[in-house]
Amino acid sequence: MPRRIRAGERLVIASHNPGKIAEIEKLLMPYGVIAIGAGALGLPEPEETETTFEGNAALKAHAAAAASGLPALADDSGLVVLALDGAPGIYSARWAGPKKDFRIAMKRVERELGDKDRKAHFVAVLALAWPDGEEALFRGEVHGVLTWPPRGERGFGYDPIFIADDYDQTFGEIDPDLKHRISHRARAFAKLVAACFGE
Ligand code: IMP
Repeated sequence: MPRRIRAGERLVIASHNPGKIAEIEKLLMPYGVIAIGAGALGLPEPEETETTFEGNAALKAHAAAAASGLPALADDSGLVVLALDGAPGIYSARWAGPKKDFRIAMKRVERELGDKDRKAHFVAVLALAWPDGEEALFRGEVHGVLTWPPRGERGFGYDPIFIADDYDQTFGEIDPDLKHRISHRARAFAKLVAACFGE
């Protein structure tokens, strides 16, 4: 059983992405946990050198916990296409290139996939690390199929080509509140909250 983080305790969010930090802050609000962004503490952003979602999430969380002396939360996520041996996987952000253009990344998936099986899933791994080296990892997945051409402007990343099982619309088209309830991230967060937050 991992340790718990209780009301009034501080937690570093090991991310420099303001959107991500805001989303996590909102999630932690009911538990009274005080979220602090890594940028606000002047913590550097470590290079993601591991080969798994778990490895990269843990690497970021441990770096932030060691540098701040506080527990730290990090995430790593991406799109996994089985017929591409799991690509783009941990390289999901990198496939969009320096300009972060996901039209290029989605085109590359389409090109490499050809007429192979279109099954895919999103993965999110959350890592919580403490300064003494303890860690807890939580994985969430949402499974579905890929579709082209991309559809919908409401999401980000690979959302316009992903249709979750039991739905007809892409993640770029569905109501964002619905996506936030069924997503890989929502599932990982639910596990994290159950295991580590509150009394
Ligand atoms: P990270 O910030 O290193 O975890 O990068 C994750 C990358 O995976 C993002 O840049 C997106 O390309 C992709 N990704 C993760 N979650 C989603 C999602 O919910 N929708 C679309 N793309 C996602």
